[in-house]
Amino acid sequence: MRIVLGVTGGIAAYKATTIIRQLTEAGHSVQVVPTQNALRFIGATTLEALSHHIVDTDLYSDVADVKHVQIGQNAELIIIAPATASFLARYASGLADDLLGNTLLATKAPVLVAPAMHTEMWQHPATVANVATLRARGVAVLDPASGRLTGQDTGPGRLPEADEIIAAAFKLLVPQDLAGRKIVITAGGTQEAIDPVRYIGNKSSGKQGLAIARAANARGAQVTLIGANIGEFSGEVFDFVSVVNAAELQEAVETHLSAADVLVMAAAVSDYRVQEVSDHKLKRGEIGDEINLHLVANPDILRAAVTRISAEKLSTVTVGFAAETAGSHQTLLTLAKTKLTTKGCDILVANDVSAGAIFGQDTTSVALVTRSGSSESFEGTKTFVADRILDAVVTALA
Ligand code: C5P
Repeated sequence: MRIVLGVTGGIAAYKATTIIRQLTEAGHSVQVVPTQNALRFIGATTLEALSHHIVDTDLYSDVADVKHVQIGQNAELIIIAPATASFLARYASGLADDLLGNTLLATKAPVLVAPAMHTEMWQHPATVANVATLRARGVAVLDPASGRLTGQDTGPGRLPEADEIIAAAFKLLVPQDLAGRKIVITAGGTQEAIDPVRYIGNKSSGKQGLAIARAANARGAQVTLIGANIGEFSGEVFDFVSVVNAAELQEAVETHLSAADVLVMAAAVSDYRVQEVSDHKLKRGEIGDEINLHLVANPDILRAAVTRISAEKLSTVTVGFAAETAGSHQTLLTLAKTKLTTKGCDILVANDVSAGAIFGQDTTSVALVTRSGSSESFEGTKTFVADRILDAVVTALA
């Protein structure tokens, strides 16, 4: 992607080097456009060496190339980090007296501004008004982080970390078509205890559910991920609830269902559980050569949720999954349509797990059928498929 990084004249200008590094290492082309004052803090040579592009601040060199318009027109994404109070004032009033100002007026690319300054300057009514003007114009302005500033003082004004700035910038490229929506997603495979050390489980890794959680968050949704045996997640972009067995998963789904706009049941739920779980480890010497486990059916959590949604007249969109050993695409599609009806959900995503395919892998291939009668097939990374599932969710919500 062609990214322009504007750097303005504050002490945090040296941190632009980390941003350039991370972007170029991720394969992006980075054109740095510093202001004159930024070059008092960091040298053009450093910026050129890291970005592999010539760095210029001057409007009046290479005019034949119409550089001031070209950089803005070519950019797919613009990040300004750090942005000083003075820069915010110039940008808010549309001043184009240097290369960066011109670039910003000539671009149609999304712009992320990451301010850094002393707390007093950030909180000054002039800066507050400039930030409000820019935000009202569709410019994304990050709030600075709190902490130690250049002098002895602490407070809001620090430049956020490079990866935070980059994540916020890339979010601008994603449609916010799930903004304000609450999505509950289950992921992973439940485990039904036999005794304190053994269980009946399945091969689900939780990768598809996790990909849906992250993609939904990127599209603006507030996500609760109910994870069955997929590890712990803290500091993630979603609320995380950890469960082990079907009963715990059902309880978590029931707790979160009434507030949810969407329920995605990507978890592989055990259909049966052991009726009498042994409270001590079963020993072969005591049992002999045969063991009979009496299994009883778990409730169908998705069907129960669909029943409750209709009884309580909720408008929750429901997505079910089906892992089938279909053998052919046509059979998979037929099984998907049948399961859509038996589960009563709005969308059903089926994949063919014959010969150990898909479980634990980063790619998948699915048939997606909807209650409104559409059927589509998708193949690619679980992240790609997550977005296609969410496209169908957005359509169903509408
Ligand atoms: O019937 P089957 O297990 O193939 O259905 C799969 C779908 O139903 C998945 O969405 C899964 O999360 C859900 N399910 C459930 N409760 C069960 C079994 C499956 O909600 N006991």
